[in-house]
Amino acid sequence: TRVDKAGHKHFMAKEIAEQPTVIGEAVRHYLTQDGTGVKLPGADLDFTKVDRLTMVACGTAFYACLTAKYWFEQLAGIPVEVDIASEFRYREPPISKGTVALFVSQSGETADTLAALRYCEGKADKILSVVNVAESSIARESDIALPILAGTEIGVASTKAFTCQLTVLLMLALKAAQDRGAIKATKCTDLLSKLRALPSVLNETLDCESQLEDTARKLAEAKDILFLGRGLMYPLALEGALKLKEISYIHAEAYASGELKHGPIALIDKHVPVVVLAPKDALFEKSISNMQEVMARNGKVLLITDKPGAKEGGDGVWQTVVLPEIDPVLSPILYAIPAQLLAYHTAVAKGTDVDQPRNLAKSVTVE
Ligand code: G6P
Repeated sequence: TRVDKAGHKHFMAKEIAEQPTVIGEAVRHYLTQDGTGVKLPGADLDFTKVDRLTMVACGTAFYACLTAKYWFEQLAGIPVEVDIASEFRYREPPISKGTVALFVSQSGETADTLAALRYCEGKADKILSVVNVAESSIARESDIALPILAGTEIGVASTKAFTCQLTVLLMLALKAAQDRGAIKATKCTDLLSKLRALPSVLNETLDCESQLEDTARKLAEAKDILFLGRGLMYPLALEGALKLKEISYIHAEAYASGELKHGPIALIDKHVPVVVLAPKDALFEKSISNMQEVMARNGKVLLITDKPGAKEGGDGVWQTVVLPEIDPVLSPILYAIPAQLLAYHTAVAKGTDVDQPRNLAKSVTVE
C-alpha cells in the first residue's frame, strides 16, 4: 500500500501526529476484554519461571529497551540486561538457564539484531521479539513475535515506532508483574486504564508544538546541545539527543543528570542549551538541583515538565514547556513527543532533509 504525507510537510510530522491513534490501537490489541489484564494474542508466555531478561537492539529500539529495563525491574522484579546488538553478538555473553531473550526492532531486519537473536537460539529459554513488520526475519525467527502495530514508518528518524515499542513493552512488563504476583491488582488495573486514556493525553501534548517550534528556531543556532534526565527520563534524554543529531546535524549528547558533575559540566557556558526532562516525580528535586548547577554556569535551560514541576522548578529557566500531568510510569511515552517535535522543528529551521537525513538508512541490513 502506498503511504502519503496526508497533508503534512514531511512523513516525520505525519508520523508524530499519528501517535495517539496507533498507540490506542496497540493498547486495545494487548488489553483483555475486561480491561484488567494483558493478553498476548496467539502466544503462550508465563513469566513465573523467568529468572532474567536479556534485551538487545540498535538505535532508537535500544533506547526503548533501556526504558523497559526500569519497568521490568520495578514493576515485575525481573533482573534485566540491555545491550547494543553489535556489542552483544561479538561479546558472546553466557546465557544462563531461565533467561528470556527479547529483541526490539522496527524493521525486523537489522543485521546486528538478527545476528544477536541467532546467537541466542538454543541458549535462551525463549526468544521474543517486539517488531513493527510482522513478516520480518526477526519476527519469523522468534518463538513469540509481538507486533507494535505502528503502521508503516517512512521517516528515517523513528517516532511512532518508538512510542509503540514503549507501549507494548510496558504492557509486557505489566503482564510479567501480574504473572509473578509482583503488582497489586488495583495498581495494575489503574495503570492499564491510564494506558487506555493515553491517546487523549497525547493529543493534548501535541498542543505544545507551536511553543516548541519557537524554541527550535533558537536551538537551531546552537553547536552543542545537552539532554539530561533521571530514571525513566534518562533513556528518553538519550533518544532526544539521538533524534536531534540525526536530523538537524547539531551535536547533541545525553547524560544521566547525576553524571553531570563527572564530566559534561565542564562544557557548560552560555552557548550550550541544556534540555532537562523532569516531570514532578520522585526524582524531581534531584533533577532540579542538577539543573541549577547548569544555570549557575550560565547554561540555558529548556525545562520540559508538568504544571507542578514548572511551579516549583521554573524560576530563572530560559524556557519551560509544560506538559499534561501523567502517572510517572507512563511518562516516557508522553515526554517522547516534545523530544521528537524539538528535533523536527530544529531540522526544519535548519532546512535539512528531515525524512532522508544524510548518511543514514531506515533499515540497516548489512553490518
Ligand atoms: C537505523 C534507523 C534507526 C533505527 C535503527 C534500528 O539506524 O535509522 O531509526 O532505530 O536502525 O532499526 P530497527 O529497524 O532494528 O528498529
